[in-house]
Amino acid sequence: MRDASPQTIYLKDYAPFGFAVQDVHLTFDLAPSATRVTARIRFVPDRAAADRTFFLHGENLSLISAKIDGESVKPTLTDEGLTCDVPDMPFTWEAEVQIDPAGNTALEGLYLSNGMYCTQCEAEGFRKITYYPDRPDVMSTFTVRINGPHGTLLSNGNPVAAGDGWAEWHDPWPKPAYLFALVAGELIAHRDTFTTMEGRKVDLALYVRPGDEGKCAFGMQALKDSMVWDEKVYGRPYDLDVFNIVAVDDFNMGAMENKGLNIFNASAVLASPETSTDGNFERIEAIIAHEYFHNWTGNRITCRDWFQLCLKEGLTVFRDSQFTADMRSAPVKRISDVIDLRARQFPEDQGPLAHPVRPESFQEINNFYTATIYEKGAEVIAMLKTLVGDDAYAKALDLYFERHDGQACTIEDWLKVFEDATGRDLSQFQRWYAQAGTPHVAVSEAFADGTYTLEFTQSTPPSATTPDPAPLVIPIAVGLIAPDGSEAMPTQILELTQASQTFTFPSLNAKPVPSILRGFSAPVVLDHDADHAFLLAHDTDPFNRWEAARSLARTSLMNTILKGTAPDPAWINGIASVMRDDTLDPAYRALMLGLPGQSELAAEIQRAGHIPDPDAIWVAVNTLKQALSDKISDELPAMYAAYQVTAPYAPDAAQSGMRAFGNAILSLITRQDGGDQAQAQYDAADNMTQQLSALANLIRAGRGDAALSQFEAQWKDDRLVMDKWYGLQVMEAKPDDAADTAKALTKHAGFNWKNPNRFRATLGALAAHHAGFHAKDGSGYALLADWLITLDPVNPQTTARMCSAFQTWRRYDAIRQSMISKELDRIASTPDLSRDTTEMITRIREA
Ligand code: TRP
Ligand code: ZN
Repeated sequence: MRDASPQTIYLKDYAPFGFAVQDVHLTFDLAPSATRVTARIRFVPDRAAADRTFFLHGENLSLISAKIDGESVKPTLTDEGLTCDVPDMPFTWEAEVQIDPAGNTALEGLYLSNGMYCTQCEAEGFRKITYYPDRPDVMSTFTVRINGPHGTLLSNGNPVAAGDGWAEWHDPWPKPAYLFALVAGELIAHRDTFTTMEGRKVDLALYVRPGDEGKCAFGMQALKDSMVWDEKVYGRPYDLDVFNIVAVDDFNMGAMENKGLNIFNASAVLASPETSTDGNFERIEAIIAHEYFHNWTGNRITCRDWFQLCLKEGLTVFRDSQFTADMRSAPVKRISDVIDLRARQFPEDQGPLAHPVRPESFQEINNFYTATIYEKGAEVIAMLKTLVGDDAYAKALDLYFERHDGQACTIEDWLKVFEDATGRDLSQFQRWYAQAGTPHVAVSEAFADGTYTLEFTQSTPPSATTPDPAPLVIPIAVGLIAPDGSEAMPTQILELTQASQTFTFPSLNAKPVPSILRGFSAPVVLDHDADHAFLLAHDTDPFNRWEAARSLARTSLMNTILKGTAPDPAWINGIASVMRDDTLDPAYRALMLGLPGQSELAAEIQRAGHIPDPDAIWVAVNTLKQALSDKISDELPAMYAAYQVTAPYAPDAAQSGMRAFGNAILSLITRQDGGDQAQAQYDAADNMTQQLSALANLIRAGRGDAALSQFEAQWKDDRLVMDKWYGLQVMEAKPDDAADTAKALTKHAGFNWKNPNRFRATLGALAAHHAGFHAKDGSGYALLADWLITLDPVNPQTTARMCSAFQTWRRYDAIRQSMISKELDRIASTPDLSRDTTEMITRIREA
């Protein structure tokens, strides 16, 4: 039974639970459709608490028996849980429930994935396992007994004892229920060990299904690298005798940081050169680090309530970005993060789903695992670090761990640590957590009598949750470049705190060219008519040099789209020089070749007061790429040859950079030779990066059929590789064919739509194909809506996340808007639509 009008939960209504949980004992008798869970929980009334109602969450549970201090009781049951009269003194609650893992397609709680039992409890899945105060501020130690199949039986903490078909685990670190995990099945362990800086010997294991043993080595190395890094950079050692990771085929997100037992989407941990691209390797390394780093930022210090989600996610994303920057190239990582931020967070912040980094209300918390909470949350921490400086940041983090270890905290606690460590007043900075919307910063400049003046004006567009935004503290990294290209002033951090503010730079011989927002020092839209061609040639800040190329390309594309102008030679010549400059990192040069996303261009066109035409954008992008390819066509074959890796494959930054640049060149060559070089690369490829990139080029050149069949025959038994096969065909389709291609793939025998990876590979690729999704005939909209309606009763969480494809709908013309509106209505009026999807569609429609 579902609620007709879902309830809204408010941050301001927070009240502590009226009881402490002293300890938890769980016994699982595993059976696919009838698992029994017995919980023995010791509660202690909190006499200071205003509300001592004994309410335990519980969903989809069959209560077999309930006892308090050994006496049977009859609790009052609702759809959401139970209440019961309890003694006004410490007592033991015992309940036995029955659950149905085999029937659990939502992948939340205890479920079966290809015959393997596994759990996902964040955010509110533990209540589908047993009755419990399922809120992050209730922390306790857990002892778990698993009676199950032969094979591997895992839970959190340290192993206590095990026998044939049973195992016992004890987690000594008090934790909220969302960090509970259990895994049981036929698994193979890839083992290693690690000794912490405190001398603790830790047994590490990565558990996979038989057949995947060969894909474990890289993930294990990434784990050890993460452990070393967190000790070295944050002084944080690991705190249990074992650390286990399990790869699961059916998973709603990337991975989950359960204490001592991280559970991963197989796509986020399994890697081999033959089956994984360089991009996959880098993502896997980052996700393993992310989940490992949660052990301190999330687990040891957790969130008081789900409104504080960014406390752990923003900080942990920031930490994993630092890790990747250290392991690989810092500028390349920064540029990639900003590309991602603009592609995913900006549209969210500028549309109907805009919400503050710390929201003040929600209906379904699963809908708030967003780019804003994660990525903007990390940007806010980066700004804080920029403002206080590296040493003060380190001091504040030490104080955070010292003061709050073992607690469930708030953003106020986090900011107070920085105030206490630095003496700085952060009340205005706090607005970054409270206000939605992407701030715009406009710049004007003046030069007189050797003094250069920059005037900044900030404004944040109002949104549903932030109708009246106030000025923010915006750190703006600025450098000045002299007209001869030399440095007139090295990077300085300007602190913009007013709506409008002026900064002066005296004693300059000539009017400088400013390099503003170096390193993307704040997540804002910068309105500034800079001399991008000059900055592309001379900026010493690698981020801003890349940004200059991007801005030149954007302006060129906008002019083509809006005025029919030919591609800008300044971009073509500037990029050609960058490509020839062997002193530059190939990975960086590959990024320089990239163009703004087509959806990003649509947003830009709307900002400029026009209605974006997805087909015109698609044509303009291809025209610009063709112009570059034509201009340097003679040089391309030699350049391509110079960036072929001859050493045995390694997924390191140096080789990946070579391949990234080589493959960027290949796509320009394909525009000249119709795919001959791509076919040669395809035939010779001994790793997935080269194979997939060649395949993409062949499809684009209209001669992909043979390679696609070959690829399918070669990889039909590898689920993760076949996800690429599904996705690539949609991604590389011509706009008019994208929906048809996706539709045909959904009829393919291997299209197991209940598997989130396969669903996202196919329909997610359609949603990401700007011109294809927005095809004039509405076929993209209709196909996605059909499949969201199909998936919703099976997996609401994944359905709801994918509704965000429609969040930009107000940008487009009246006909497209009315087609989308019709689809949104069709989804909304589906009987028994989930709370997750209902909330998303309602928010998207209302703005
Ligand atoms: N906490 C996880 C992370 O950031 C995210 C996550 C994994 C998640 N699975 C989930 C969140 C399911 C909500 C629901 O690493
Ligand atoms: Zn996380």
